[in-house]
Amino acid sequence: MKSSVVVVGSFVQDLAFYTKNFPRPGETVVGDFRPGPGGKGFNQAVAAARAGIPTLFIGAVGPDAAGAGARQFARTAGLHLHLVEKPKHATGAAVVTVNGAGQNHIIISLGANLGLKPRDIPAPLLAPAQVVVCQGESAYATVGHVLRTARRNGAITVFNPAPMRPEFDPAVLRHTEVLIPNESEFAALVKQCPSCAALLRTAPFNAGGEFTEATLHALSPEALHRLCRCLQVPVVIVTLGARGCFVSQPDVYLRIRAHDVEVVDTAGAGDGFVGGFAAGLVKFKHNIFEAAHYASAVAALSVMQPGTAPSMPIAREIARFLKKRDHR
Ligand code: RIB
Repeated sequence: MKSSVVVVGSFVQDLAFYTKNFPRPGETVVGDFRPGPGGKGFNQAVAAARAGIPTLFIGAVGPDAAGAGARQFARTAGLHLHLVEKPKHATGAAVVTVNGAGQNHIIISLGANLGLKPRDIPAPLLAPAQVVVCQGESAYATVGHVLRTARRNGAITVFNPAPMRPEFDPAVLRHTEVLIPNESEFAALVKQCPSCAALLRTAPFNAGGEFTEATLHALSPEALHRLCRCLQVPVVIVTLGARGCFVSQPDVYLRIRAHDVEVVDTAGAGDGFVGGFAAGLVKFKHNIFEAAHYASAVAALSVMQPGTAPSMPIAREIARFLKKRDHR
């Protein structure tokens, strides 16, 4: 079994509630309940596999029904799996709340995912990969180990720092070739980045004092590119939700607009982007812009369906969508 994309990361049992309005503190609202497989790592792996690229997911679960559900869903998605069972941990779980506009709130308990150790990841499984992807729902020591090993093997390493946890270890960026944060993760990264500090004291980066998502949105493409370069990662792709994404490479940058689609559920859209990007790198012979263009189509299609992993589109749907859009 050779997988061109390997995703090492989280599997989480999603407990999703759909309601018109988010409850206010102290309020109870009635909604629809849909449990399903999720976790940023698993969602990204499913997105890449469904896009038609042989993909392996490496993760950890507890000895419970949720872990068994991961195996069953992976089979139907054509995803290769290396799941380590952690007897002393429960499978990760998340409460996902989605309102009538498709916006989401998520609370996650990482459970067995934090127990995934470097020794759980057999080196031969990483060796054939063209692209290796990690996120922030695993122990940072494990993420660092995987990205370092993959880079030594000559793979393209992709790190999605979601969610940004207080114990974030910037050392993982040394082994990252493509960094994909959303707006809030990008703001958090630049605030703790020593080489960004001098730039953040100058206009327009210091508008309003602290660097926030609003400051980010107000930046010109050229200014945002300068800030991305300070992170000292070869490629930075900032996902901007309905605003699309911004791709910064050493000597060139590009803003890609989001597709205008009917939004049902935005939970997992970022994962659709990251998994679609990994698949796109393989499909388009490592062309970053082509892969980002493909990723934004995968993300757009994923928000039109409920759920996270189950909302990822298949290759035929993506091709049809891109064909229609390119003809506009
Ligand atoms: O990005 C969405 C995912 O975040 C959900 O599937 C949930 O499990 C959390 O990990």
